[in-house]
Amino acid sequence: TGNVTLDVGFVNTASCESDITYIDGDQGILRYRGYPIEQLAEKSSFVEVCYLLIYGELPSENELEEFEAKIRRHTMLHEDLKAFFNGFPRDAHPMPVLSSAVSALGTFYQDLDPFDPEQVENSTIRLLAKLPTIAAYAHKKSLGQPFLYPDNSLTLTENFLRMTFGFPAEPYELDPEIVKALDQLFILHADHEQNCSTSTVRLVGSSQATLYNSISAGIHALSGPLHGGANQAVLEMLTKIKNAEYDTDTFMKKVKDKEDGVKLMGFGHRVYKSYDPRAAIVKETAHTVLEKMGSDELMEIAMKLEEIALADDYFVERKLYPNVDFYTGLIYTAMGFQPKMFTVLFAIGRLPGWIAQWREMINDPKTKIGRPRQIYTGYTERDYVALDQR
Ligand code: CMC
Repeated sequence: TGNVTLDVGFVNTASCESDITYIDGDQGILRYRGYPIEQLAEKSSFVEVCYLLIYGELPSENELEEFEAKIRRHTMLHEDLKAFFNGFPRDAHPMPVLSSAVSALGTFYQDLDPFDPEQVENSTIRLLAKLPTIAAYAHKKSLGQPFLYPDNSLTLTENFLRMTFGFPAEPYELDPEIVKALDQLFILHADHEQNCSTSTVRLVGSSQATLYNSISAGIHALSGPLHGGANQAVLEMLTKIKNAEYDTDTFMKKVKDKEDGVKLMGFGHRVYKSYDPRAAIVKETAHTVLEKMGSDELMEIAMKLEEIALADDYFVERKLYPNVDFYTGLIYTAMGFQPKMFTVLFAIGRLPGWIAQWREMINDPKTKIGRPRQIYTGYTERDYVALDQR
């Protein structure tokens, strides 16, 4: 094995160089292309952030208009692709549906060559435009409700809300505060350098697999409860406490004793060893949205858990703070989303980051196929034993 070093979970190993996202985990700093997340969350829009991440600069007014127009042209799904949703059981989790539909997109379009910039651009736009439609249809399918065609007079986020919650025969009234809050959440999720799903997208892409197939793999990586699936897991945890399956103190004791592997979901991060800057913004948004929708018992439980954790040695010593997933589920619930849809919302937000990172990887002359080594710990050579002698 020569000079191979063991680094389980890639705690100390950088897999690439990147110009896209900067994180300082000790100081709780996050910047996309140099711009602080706080400024982008307050002043930018999700579509603008998509542009920034993918092309490296904030767009001019014309560039933004053109970009939005291109996305609008591609929001519809091929009618044959719509039939695809009937192939899943009604109670299917929407994450595998999302991932499968993204794989399927790569069979409907021929813009597959990773080294043809025009084709990469086409698949980039198609993915950005169609993922919200796919996500809304996965939701509609689970309820047995009719699909809505996109309304291209709306923005990407507005369109997604309407396709998710609207009905064909009724006008859908958009609430500007909800639109703004969801758009902001998409911005906060848009990139996070070499996290598990992004590394997956890059690793799959390093074999020169298509953008569609790489993103499809990334969606699966995101689905796990230690990654994007944490937002659903947080809500389930809070609901259990609310339903008095256990009180907060008993629950926290279980976490600290590591009983049955119970964790305080939505806490801790590989890189942040101080407050996750995204969580600070999400917490504020949660207050605004929940105030509007009426006070919420789950929010109170969440705040109590945070208060206990931030003053407890177990969490202080390990530098465990709320991460982006801790409060998002509460906002999504107030907006009317089922818990199963939470990680899908994360995927819509993270998509521009995956695309930007994949494109950076494909255009980097230093890229090589991702192929980690191992430390072999199995048997040394031994002789085959015939079946009747075992
Ligand atoms: N609750 C209780 N203990 C924890 C938690 C938690 N949420 N997170 C970490 N620890 C403990 C862990 O048991 C370990 O203790 P010890 O030193 O005694 O063995 C110590 O803290 C260090 O944790 P680690 O597991 O070595 O840290 P990691 O960098 O490998 O894992 C993590 C990071 C995010 C997977 C982990 O903190 C975790 O499982 N958190 C809960 C799931 C979660 O909220 N995930 C969302 C992450 S942010 C958004 C995203 O990426 O999708």
